[in-house]
Amino acid sequence: MNVKTLETLSVIDPRVEFSRNPLGVDELKPRFSWIPVHSDRGQNQKAYRVIVSSSMESAEKGIGDVWDSGVVESDSNIVEYSGPQLKSFTRYFWRVKWWDGNGRESKWSEVVWFETAILDSKEWRGAWIGGGQLFRKEFTIEKDIAEARIYIAGLGYYELRVNGVKVGNKALDPPWSEYDKTIYYSVYDVTDLIKKGLNVIAVMLGRGRYSQKFRKVKYYDEPKLLMMIRIAFKDGGVEYIYTDESWKCLEKGPIVDDDIYRGFKYDERLEPYNWDKQGFDDSSWRNCLKVSPPRGALRSSAVIPSTKAVATIKPREVYNPKPGVYIYDFGQNITGWVRLKVKCFGECEVKIRYAELINADYTLHTKNLRGADATDVFVLKGYGEKIVEPCFTYHGFRYAEVSGISYPPSIDDIEAVVISADLEPIGSFVCSSKMINDIHRLCIWSLRNNLNNGVQTDCPQRAERMGWLGDAWLSSDSAILNFNMVKYYEKIVRDIMDSQKEDGSIPDVVPPFWEFYPADPAWGTALIYIPWVLYVYYGDKRIIEEVYESAKKWWSYLYSRSKDGVLYFGKYGDWVPPGRVRSVENSPFEIVSTWILLRDAKILREMAKVLNRIEDAGYFDNIVRSLTDSFNKAFLHGEGKSSGYCSEYKAGDGSTICLGNSQTCLALPLAEDIVPSDRVEHVVSRLVKSVKNEWDKHFNVGIIGLKYVPEVLAKYGYTQLVYEALMQDTYPSFGYMIKESATTLWERWEKLTGSAMNSHDHHMFGSIDAWLYRWLAGLQVVEPGFKRFRVLIPDIQGLNSVSTSIYTIRGLVSISWHKDDEKSLIVELSIPVNSVAELIIPRKSGAEIYEGETLIWKNTAEEDDTQGVISIRELNDKIVLEIGSGKYRFTIKWSG
Ligand code: BGC
Repeated sequence: MNVKTLETLSVIDPRVEFSRNPLGVDELKPRFSWIPVHSDRGQNQKAYRVIVSSSMESAEKGIGDVWDSGVVESDSNIVEYSGPQLKSFTRYFWRVKWWDGNGRESKWSEVVWFETAILDSKEWRGAWIGGGQLFRKEFTIEKDIAEARIYIAGLGYYELRVNGVKVGNKALDPPWSEYDKTIYYSVYDVTDLIKKGLNVIAVMLGRGRYSQKFRKVKYYDEPKLLMMIRIAFKDGGVEYIYTDESWKCLEKGPIVDDDIYRGFKYDERLEPYNWDKQGFDDSSWRNCLKVSPPRGALRSSAVIPSTKAVATIKPREVYNPKPGVYIYDFGQNITGWVRLKVKCFGECEVKIRYAELINADYTLHTKNLRGADATDVFVLKGYGEKIVEPCFTYHGFRYAEVSGISYPPSIDDIEAVVISADLEPIGSFVCSSKMINDIHRLCIWSLRNNLNNGVQTDCPQRAERMGWLGDAWLSSDSAILNFNMVKYYEKIVRDIMDSQKEDGSIPDVVPPFWEFYPADPAWGTALIYIPWVLYVYYGDKRIIEEVYESAKKWWSYLYSRSKDGVLYFGKYGDWVPPGRVRSVENSPFEIVSTWILLRDAKILREMAKVLNRIEDAGYFDNIVRSLTDSFNKAFLHGEGKSSGYCSEYKAGDGSTICLGNSQTCLALPLAEDIVPSDRVEHVVSRLVKSVKNEWDKHFNVGIIGLKYVPEVLAKYGYTQLVYEALMQDTYPSFGYMIKESATTLWERWEKLTGSAMNSHDHHMFGSIDAWLYRWLAGLQVVEPGFKRFRVLIPDIQGLNSVSTSIYTIRGLVSISWHKDDEKSLIVELSIPVNSVAELIIPRKSGAEIYEGETLIWKNTAEEDDTQGVISIRELNDKIVLEIGSGKYRFTIKWSG
């Protein structure tokens, strides 16, 4: 192998289960992935080889003593482990290399590792214990420690300390789940914390969702703890320390109350001094009780992005509406809590309340929290300065009220802690329009604020915060384009499967803390849609394999409720359009529900194909056909120019009225290409007329419509119209929210206050962010996993440039286009190895296209073999360039 070869091919970012060096994997067949890099253009991976070794040394020598895939001819860069059964508690080292189309070989990747957790539940030691808020266990270690790990499941939430030091940086752990089916445990490397000699493990439990007692929220049981420490000694021996009745428990500790909605109440006087350190006298504590284990199976959370503090924000303003009451404005609606430095001498009680809004007199406006007290209280002994912040709760807020201290805390003493799932940001988007950038910013904040606790909640502030499935799937494309969502969504999909009943039904809210069965079809579709978009963006079929039977069962459940191919069942439909919550008159449930049934049959057909289930694919193909017919038969009314989609009802006077023809009703069938071809034009023009004329370039849609109306308009060439609707700042529009000081997306198009349903931090309208990526940046996946993608440069008056990048599963895709005037366009592209892009640009008269300095097109393709450019052709009013991997700079010049 010569030096040049080494430079040309390399491999970066090797991961296991989409994570870097994960500690505590419990997948029996973890997936490896990597990114091939090549200095030449137009490259594909022809083969790969993965080795897994038992030691760093073997891996470095290129010896796969655990597993050697051999040279496998494949362009896949996600590969399942298929060596002998992995062992628990073991660190494996691995690396990968690849070959390009010319048979050139890359050097090995760096050596990376993954460590297994508990692969067989029988290997768990210890019992579930309870009966306390504080738990402690002292033990003595006599030998030299090589490695130490803690495996812990503390329900509802826990905080873990070893020798007085907090372990890890997770907040609100473990992630929520359907605890009757799955309990997540965490794995920590505590080698540096556990010492030879006397040690103490201290755990504080909170109630979380598992033990929540709040109105109709599902209550599982009182808090409980399972934990195991595994210590490997330098002499090769292993010792386990685990929860049992020898642990000491303090029943009533310093936490007077902790609840997700109510907040956190802490009394320092009740916290025994140094209870979490060695040598504390716990003789007055009672022995913990062995309690019945929760029903769910234990599963490692190691590769699921955990919730943690991701930023802090200083207040922008402070108000003093009443004596002793201080209101801080953090300038941004966030999820998290306040951290406050309190100086009190003598006992004091500090109170922090939270809200998204303030009243005209600068007091907090908490009515829209609907019964969530959102109040943290700290009773302090008053020994001087102390930093307080809650745990086991969180709040959605922009404003915080501090009271109970006799002086106004200075800006230095207070900050807001932003929490969120630790999701790797992979996407970026910026363009020449401030409005569009602002919309993008609101979408990102609302997504972030609602991605925590292993769930995608509807909102972070009121007495709700549930994993509403409608909200989740609607913004899933947006989330996936901005964050590495694969493990997070796999977890959510498993939660849905865990919540499924025998009859196939699933609930609206998952985990089912509110047991709303069966889901509205347009909510339950999350079980089908989310795995499918994961497949589309990641190109990995594992999640489809896993979900398929369950998805089919849910679909069949709904299908069994349909009559003559129409599904009348619905609960929310095109939820929260302008002026109302339900939109039955404009978008009847049966239109939305039947459309979902049909769309999901299509997805199932595609899944069946991917899984090679030929018979099923045929079955769903027939279903799609018959549902298409029944949909049109039931809802397509009118002739020619009056063609539209509505549902007939008998009015009181016996006459027939047809409800529908809303923007949503018109867009849905167009989105799935089921409108008979001779009617398409009329349905499109009716939709355009509604948005453009009747609604003066505004969308009259709920959350379903918002995902599909802009999409369909763009698909039929009305990108300019969508852009103009997005530039509006009058009601109903995103611009209106922004003009009215929104920093996150509202639940309703209206600016509402009071106790009605009006969260100011819902992410479901955030589906629009995917539209920005798809139609303004122009990035659209054609073949799963970005194997082939489209870069469709839009022709929009008023928009001069867009830059975007996505760190895809194949590597970095970036697009930056810039229009100087109507006569020139510059497009810079970066395409990863193994991908092909179709760059599509408007064909105007006298076009010349340069790549770098080379003319490659002048009215027709020039004789040229620019490396990486596979073909250039005209297609209607477009020019299409097919391009292989590499970096490119195209300049397009038009004469007229
Ligand atoms: C939630 C929504 C949810 C809806 C169902 C609301 O309370 O906040 O986002 O999808 O109920 O209709």
